[in-house]
Amino acid sequence: MLILGIETSCDETAVAILRDDEVLTNLVSSQLLHQQFGGVVPEFASREHMRLLNQMVTDTFKLSEIKPENIDGVAVTRGPGLMGALLVGLSFAKGLAYSLNKPLLGVNHVEGHIMANFLTCPELKFPFLCLLVSGGHTQIADINDFGDYQTFGRSVDDAAGEAFDKAGRILELPYPGGPQIDRLAHQGDPEFYKFPRAKVRSDHFDFSFSGLKTAMLYLVRQRGRDWTQEHLADLCASYQEAIVDVLKVNTFKVAKSQRAKKIVLAGGVAANSRLREVFENEAARLGIELILPSLKYCTDNAAMIARAGLEMLKRGQISSYSVSAVPNLRLSNN
Ligand code: KG4
Ligand code: ZN
Repeated sequence: MLILGIETSCDETAVAILRDDEVLTNLVSSQLLHQQFGGVVPEFASREHMRLLNQMVTDTFKLSEIKPENIDGVAVTRGPGLMGALLVGLSFAKGLAYSLNKPLLGVNHVEGHIMANFLTCPELKFPFLCLLVSGGHTQIADINDFGDYQTFGRSVDDAAGEAFDKAGRILELPYPGGPQIDRLAHQGDPEFYKFPRAKVRSDHFDFSFSGLKTAMLYLVRQRGRDWTQEHLADLCASYQEAIVDVLKVNTFKVAKSQRAKKIVLAGGVAANSRLREVFENEAARLGIELILPSLKYCTDNAAMIARAGLEMLKRGQISSYSVSAVPNLRLSNN
């Protein structure tokens, strides 16, 4: 089956064509204009999607050597994300699906992140335990099947990606801070400063990252700019270590309690090199299989949206034209 995927939930305009698990074309345009503001400006994001989307869809068909009338469905993110940004992609997809008389598949972006693993590992089978870590989500859930989830823990405040990005801002790094901190941490000492590892409740698997960010803010204020810049790499490595440590402890605690045989990572923060390394070591030590999505499918892309759409189509879950954009859509059971 051939699926066109469209993703416009935040600041990446992305279009892809999938032939089953094979990605024919995967185009991502990251909107760099937001860097000057230190974060995403929703109004500008929507306008950029408007400016780029039509041409990117045309290019994707051309590069894949696929005629629009030969696709089997149009998959598009319907949430979560920024309302205006979502509406650009969703309205475009509705128009295209209608004009081609093809099924419309309104995809939950979070499910897209999880399904990205099938692009890297087509032989992957349900069920598996998933740590989902993105700019908006931090969640540990059993993925029993597509649309059948059991959540064990989630962040009670900031998401892991948000914790990276907020520290990036405090350290005056370009937005988004996550990849910058990852890069700088390679030259730093993770034991330079012991950031707090928050426990929400010892019998719970929930996360809290806001204290960590506050600790960084106070430290930088107290020691001053020169000291901060001098120890930038060490601060990045120590801060990253605290996030990775909490993610590791909670995930493997759930894995133990559920006797999980397989752990899957998903979302933008799954691109973090230290997170991947620590999870690889711990999984190997405990004899648990670990699946890591390729770096290009960790951060926002449309191939993962097309893959989730393909799953919907296979199961006859076609969306109606009245499907709406839902900015706070959650991972929930069908
Ligand atoms: O999944 P994603 O692209 O968008 C959302 O759905 O939120 O995730 C974006 C988040 C950002 O917070 C970004 O800083 C973080 O993923 N991120 C990273 C890395 N690459 C992206 N965080 C840490 N290390 C990275 N290498
Ligand atoms: Zn995302």
